[in-house]
Amino acid sequence: MKTNLADIRQEYTKGGLREADLPDDPLLLFSRWLQDAIDAQVEEPTAVIVATVSPEGYPSSRTVLLKGVDDGRFIFYTNYESRKGGQLAGNPHISLSFVWHTLQRQVHVEGTAVKVPPETSNAYFKKRPYKSRIGARISPQSQPIASRMQLMRAFVQEAARWFGKEVERPDNWGGYAVTPTRIEFWQGRPSRLHDRFLYTLHPDKKWAICRLAP
Ligand SMILES: Cc1cc2nc3c(=O)[nH]c(=O)nc-3n(C[C@H](O)[C@H](O)[C@H](O)COP(=O)(O)O)c2cc1C
Repeated sequence: MKTNLADIRQEYTKGGLREADLPDDPLLLFSRWLQDAIDAQVEEPTAVIVATVSPEGYPSSRTVLLKGVDDGRFIFYTNYESRKGGQLAGNPHISLSFVWHTLQRQVHVEGTAVKVPPETSNAYFKKRPYKSRIGARISPQSQPIASRMQLMRAFVQEAARWFGKEVERPDNWGGYAVTPTRIEFWQGRPSRLHDRFLYTLHPDKKWAICRLAP
């Protein structure tokens, strides 16, 4: 590699997060920060790294797109028979990590995931572009496949089957809703003295807030 990675360094000077500005409800602050990311035209503002736990207790992560925040829960869609789907069936504990580099911000969420009702998945599936709906039907997500050709052949056959019809959501595709129990907001600051605030959900359903060392 030509570049010495140790020489890549950036000061974080874009903002600060003050205790006085924290709302009681972390979902409010999350919505504000997500809107800031959208307004700042960051690439894929809804992209989020989802970590799940394997049956052996190993962490496993990948990126998905957040498709809503509904009733205090974070919603994303995927294949229920994918690797993440299998892991969530065995262990619903999950973490979500958002990072918006342009804004020097990140948010970490921890909680539990449940499948959304089929009607909710149907409603979102209908909004997806036709080809994405076909793709969801034919992709055995996370399974080994012989070739791209095999995938394309299945796609073309399925597209022909549904031509002129309303493409139905397959049972193995749908949403998860993540109920958070812990949400941390991180704003980069100069000299690596970042602002970090942790919201923790207490049994009385109120959120406690504390500042964490950077
Ligand atoms: C920007 C981005 C967005 C993605 N969005 C989704 C998504 O919303 N749902 C999904 O199932 N996979 C999405 N993927 C693909 C996943 O990262 C992953 O490859 C796939 O879900 C299979 O993961 P698994 O084998 O760990 O279950 C996205 C990937 C990227 C890079």
